[in-house]
Amino acid sequence: MRTIAVINQKGGVGKTTTVANLGTALAVAGRRVLLIDLDPQTHLTLSFNVEPDASRPHIYDVLSGGESVNRAVHKVRKNAWLISSHIDLAAAEMELVSVVGREVILRDALAAMKRKFDFVFVDCPPSLGLLTVNALTAVEEVFIPLQPHFLALQGVGRLFETIALVRDRLNPKLSVSGILLCLYEAGTRLAAEVVQDLRQFLEKARGTEVPWADARIFDTIIRRNIKLAECPSHGLTIFDYEPRSNGARDYARLAKEVLGELEARDEPAAPEVGAQTAPEPRPEDDAAEAPSKPDDSGVIVTIA
Ligand SMILES: Nc1ncnc2c1ncn2[C@@H]1O[C@H](COP(=O)(O)OP(=O)(O)OP(=O)(O)O)[C@@H](O)[C@H]1O
Ligand SMILES: [Mg+2]
Repeated sequence: MRTIAVINQKGGVGKTTTVANLGTALAVAGRRVLLIDLDPQTHLTLSFNVEPDASRPHIYDVLSGGESVNRAVHKVRKNAWLISSHIDLAAAEMELVSVVGREVILRDALAAMKRKFDFVFVDCPPSLGLLTVNALTAVEEVFIPLQPHFLALQGVGRLFETIALVRDRLNPKLSVSGILLCLYEAGTRLAAEVVQDLRQFLEKARGTEVPWADARIFDTIIRRNIKLAECPSHGLTIFDYEPRSNGARDYARLAKEVLGELEARDEPAAPEVGAQTAPEPRPEDDAAEAPSKPDDSGVIVTIA
């Protein structure tokens, strides 16, 4: 079983979209997938058309100790199960403050799930609070989605520090396995600069003891695609809403990459980052996907 937290304390970078659609792509590929909505915003829950009502057990009930994780898991499609979230989860950080072992509640709850799934994904809120620490304690891998634009790397240093701290104190198995470029607009110079900075940062870590020593930037890039933005409001993943869109292709390709099954012939290849050309958008995709103008801001990007 691979257990993966999808984390970035910056909001709106594609965490939930990635958990919903990468998770579904893996389920379509025949893997048994558990998706956990650990965000009081309940966006992942809503993405699967599950009403975050108080009558069904959700992640807050598990964390606050009352509910068994087995009862909180419900099937959302073939091979995919969800533990939903609820607005009450916002109170959990405060309520759990005096609980001994508050950082490992999710880990202990998930122990019962071992071997039932091939993949567990945790969709984290945009913060580095107790909920995110619980996610980092419960998993072995971290995926970090990034939107490669101005200030994309601001705060990433803090995120890596938090991961290192949790690894040292609570979860020695924790490592960052991948950084995923989301909402990507081809041809922007700034995106190329962000990726170059990231590469240098990761290169420096090779052979060291830090949890990102073996991290890679995924070869697959998730392009900006209006269908990906539309599908949650229909309570559908991209594979049910528009399976022929670039969004569906990108997440299907990412699933192959995560499974180690990517082959050179798998099209569309991710556009070379910073290249001035990009695959032609499909007719049903929106203008936002067309290659945008090179960015002339001249901003120097560094990991902060
Ligand atoms: N590749 C994409 N193309 C177009 N829109 C996208 C793409 N990825 C995500 N979006 C849209 O961008 C918004 C932010 O995405 P998402 O909710 O996945 O980010 P998030 O990191 O989970 O946000 P938060 O930090 O608030 O939880 C959403 O409206 C989503 O539908
Ligand atoms: Mg989210």
